[in-house]
Amino acid sequence: MKLWGGRFTKETDALVHHFNESLSFDQKFYRQDIQGSVAHVKMLAKQGIVSREDEEVILKGLNEILSDLEEGRLAITPGAEDIHSFIEETLTKRVGESGKRLHTGRSRNDQVALDMKLYTRDQIHEMDGLLFTLISELVGLMEENLDTLMPGFTHLQKAQPITLAHHLGAYVEMFIRDRGRLCDIARRMNYCPLGAGALAGTTYPLDREYTAHLLDFDGPTLNSMDSVADRDYLLELLGAMAIISMHLSRFCEEIIIWNTNEYQFVELDDAYSTGSSIMPQKKNPDIAELIRGKTGRVYGALISLLTTMKGLPLAYNKDMQEDKELTFDAIDTVKGCISLFTGMISTMTFCRDRMEASAKNGFTNATDAADYLVNKGVPFRDAHGIIGQLVLLCIEKKVALENLSLAEFKAVSPVFEEDVYEAISMKTCVEKRITAGAPGRAAMENVIDKYHQYLNQR
Ligand code: ARG
Repeated sequence: MKLWGGRFTKETDALVHHFNESLSFDQKFYRQDIQGSVAHVKMLAKQGIVSREDEEVILKGLNEILSDLEEGRLAITPGAEDIHSFIEETLTKRVGESGKRLHTGRSRNDQVALDMKLYTRDQIHEMDGLLFTLISELVGLMEENLDTLMPGFTHLQKAQPITLAHHLGAYVEMFIRDRGRLCDIARRMNYCPLGAGALAGTTYPLDREYTAHLLDFDGPTLNSMDSVADRDYLLELLGAMAIISMHLSRFCEEIIIWNTNEYQFVELDDAYSTGSSIMPQKKNPDIAELIRGKTGRVYGALISLLTTMKGLPLAYNKDMQEDKELTFDAIDTVKGCISLFTGMISTMTFCRDRMEASAKNGFTNATDAADYLVNKGVPFRDAHGIIGQLVLLCIEKKVALENLSLAEFKAVSPVFEEDVYEAISMKTCVEKRITAGAPGRAAMENVIDKYHQYLNQR
């Protein structure tokens, strides 16, 4: 049964029904649809648009539908066009005449706009919670690894020594920004479209402030056409999720590299790895790879919806129904990725000896060796050249800078003294870097304090 059968003389073609229907996916927000209807009918009764008796019957009916759906006593069977029709039909079947008054002063256009906002707002909240857990996990790992030396890379070439805490901290910063983006979106979108009607409001004396308040919005939206045509918040969310995915993907890429036979910086837990059907020795980082791979889906959803929206005249157009599957899939994907990622890193073993050994064999202290000369009065450009010569010598001899004898140092520059060894030890290289944001312990402890304050704010 269609909500709009009156002016039609024929049944919808079966293929058309199948192509047009959204029940198969918009049933995802049955809770929010009922939540919106509850607020709507309360407002209708308060305004005297429906009677208190009808209100009571409708509210009871809606609450029963909700609990029957939650507890599996009522199944959403195919047939209805969308979740709005399904719930209204079920209500009317159950409570009779009063059910037919629920849709007074409302269109599915403002109804779906509301449902999607309510659903999205709930999901943003959940996703934010998952990011919070991930950040807490990372901060815990940072605290355990303030002294875990590892090479820092540029161009994936060893650059300067850092600590694992410092490396993890870079991702903490990214995920904090991701939470900030979600929070901005939640704030900006938090205006209630209910009451916008099909596009032009209604002639009933609706109290839109009241429904907005009942549904925890900051107020009603201010233009009824925009209310039913706005999908900006979904695009913003898809954008924010694309960035979250990109962050997770970069981190996964590093874990995949760290987990290779060549690096062995980390070992993934057996519970988070998979094997090969042919090669018995294999233990593969499939979860990290899948998270990296799923980034493509999320980017795809963003571009799809941007493209769907770009040519749409005001106000509602059916094209907008396409927002749902894309957004739902992206939300489920990103939530899944954050959870799986958190599980993966919290069960992973960091091979500290391998990291430290790697920091030591790649001239990561060459900059510090140059700085040593600068501190003795040599101009930086000359110091750079001198250390360059020494690196060349080391490559020939297959040794590290700190393995050269003082005589070998002095042969290239007489400025070198015994204290060079202390100055270029890995530990010194990291410990001396205590400007804000640098990997030295003092600087990192400061940052970790700030992260604790951040995590306690919640
Ligand atoms: N399923 C529709 C959607 O997602 C609901 C709104 C239908 N409105 C309409 N005028 N046909 O957009």
